[in-house]
Amino acid sequence: MRLHVADHPLVAHKLTVLRDATTASPTFRLLVDELVTLLAYEATRDVRTREVDVQTPVAQTRGVKLADPRPIVVPILRAGLGMLDGMTRLLPTAEVGFLGMQRDETTLEAVTYANRLPEDLSGRQCYLLDPMLATGGTLVAAIDYLLQRGARDVTAVCLLAAPEGLATVERFVGDRVDVSVVVAAVDERLNEKAYIVPGLGDAGDRLYGIV
Ligand code: URA
Repeated sequence: MRLHVADHPLVAHKLTVLRDATTASPTFRLLVDELVTLLAYEATRDVRTREVDVQTPVAQTRGVKLADPRPIVVPILRAGLGMLDGMTRLLPTAEVGFLGMQRDETTLEAVTYANRLPEDLSGRQCYLLDPMLATGGTLVAAIDYLLQRGARDVTAVCLLAAPEGLATVERFVGDRVDVSVVVAAVDERLNEKAYIVPGLGDAGDRLYGIV
């Protein structure tokens, strides 16, 4: 597993406002959107391209375009949905799949309740969106799901990670496949309720209000 922590003052600034408990949902959503666009820039560093000819107003030259098959962006519902627009802004031609996963609050295990993904993901570059990499249970279940459909190139884009969650993903992935995790910051630890400390609270609730 490769970890990339986006080290940029704008990322740090936006994250600080997100962490602030007094930041209301509309501002929170807007900042997540902006932050994800910055993370998407890092996350797509290895997106596959193909060479093409291009005629400028001045001369013929060579350039690149995104290669086929198109990358696929997979938000993990519900909180990952708040990251979708920020990601597709940089990758407008990507396909979008969905994975509905919920943490069982007693066992803390991830349960899949919905999915909308191509059957065959072989050769596809997959970008999973999940704001909080806490225990790692949800992300491991999501990566496993994609691997079972043939994916071998997976990048998870998260706002925050806990060291415990990163260790869980690392243990699961090892060197088997190409898995990267791109985050705005790695926080201190998890608390007894598996919330990231200092974190930003429940990302889904802060994005959408408590339902
Ligand atoms: N999910 C969240 O939304 N926040 C956390 O801190 C941990 C998991």
